[in-house]
Amino acid sequence: MTNSLAPLDLPKPLVVTLGNLKGGVGKTTSAFFLASYFSSVHDLRVLVIDADPLSQTGYSWYRRLTHADIEVPFDLIAFPSRHVDDCIKDNSATYDVIIVDAGGESADIFKAAIPESDELVLITSVSPSEVKRVPSTYQAAEEAAAHSSRAIRVRVLMTKVPVTMKKGVNISTEYRTQRGNLEDAGYEVFESYSSVWKWYREAADGEVGDGAENPIEDLGEYRQIGDELVAPYRVALEVSA
Ligand SMILES: Nc1ncnc2c1ncn2[C@@H]1O[C@H](COP(=O)(O)OP(=O)(O)O)[C@@H](O)[C@H]1O
Ligand SMILES: [Mg+2]
Repeated sequence: MTNSLAPLDLPKPLVVTLGNLKGGVGKTTSAFFLASYFSSVHDLRVLVIDADPLSQTGYSWYRRLTHADIEVPFDLIAFPSRHVDDCIKDNSATYDVIIVDAGGESADIFKAAIPESDELVLITSVSPSEVKRVPSTYQAAEEAAAHSSRAIRVRVLMTKVPVTMKKGVNISTEYRTQRGNLEDAGYEVFESYSSVWKWYREAADGEVGDGAENPIEDLGEYRQIGDELVAPYRVALEVSA
C-alpha cells in the first residue's frame, strides 16, 4: 500500500515531457509550476528545457524573473532543436528532474524528446478543438516511443478548466463532457487539473518589477497535480494493521 508520505524512488533523472501538438494549452505555465513543485516540495535539482521553436515564452518568462532578482528555484535552457534528446542526455547527471516544454506544432522536436522521457503529460484545455488534437499527439508519441527501449507513461492533464462547484463537485458541463470524452477514449486523465484562473495568467504574463514576489512560489493546484504525477514513484510501505 502506498501513501502520499511514502518516500519517492524516481528515475535518475526523472524526465517529464509536456506536450500537445498545439499551442496555447498551458504547457509553459505547467512546466514552470511543476518545476517549482519538484524544487520546493521535494528539494530536487530541476531543469526546464524550453524546446518550443515557435514561441520561447518559457525562456522570456525565466529571463524576466531572474532580471527582476527573483530567485527561481530551477534552471532553464532554451533548446528548441530536434537534438533535444542530446540536451536531455547531456544534463542527466546534473539534474534530478528534467521537464521538457515541447512546444506546439513541431512534431519533430516533440518526437525527439519522447524516447528520453519517463512521463508524457499530454496537456489540453476543455476546448473541443484542443481535445480533438489529443489522439494525434498521442499517436506521435507512440510512434516515437516505438524506437525506445524505455517505457513511457502517458497521462492527460486538463488545463483552464471552468469551475461551477456544487456540493464540492465541479459540475461544469464543458469540463464533465470533455473529461468523459477523454476517459471514454481510453486516456488516463489526471484527477486534478488547473482551473481557468486569472491568477495563472498573471503569473505568466505579469510584469515583475522592484520588490515583486515570486509568482510561482504559490503552487496553486499544481501542488496536487505534482503529487499525482509522482504517485507511481512512491515506495510501497507495508502498513501493519
Ligand atoms: N489555468 C489557467 N488559467 C488561466 N490562464 C491560463 C492558465 N494556464 C495558462 N494560462 C494562460 O494561457 C496562455 C497560454 O499558456 P501557456 O502556458 O503559454 O501555453 P502553451 O505553452 O501551451 O502555449 C498564457 O497567457 C497563460 O498565462
Ligand atoms: Mg509555451
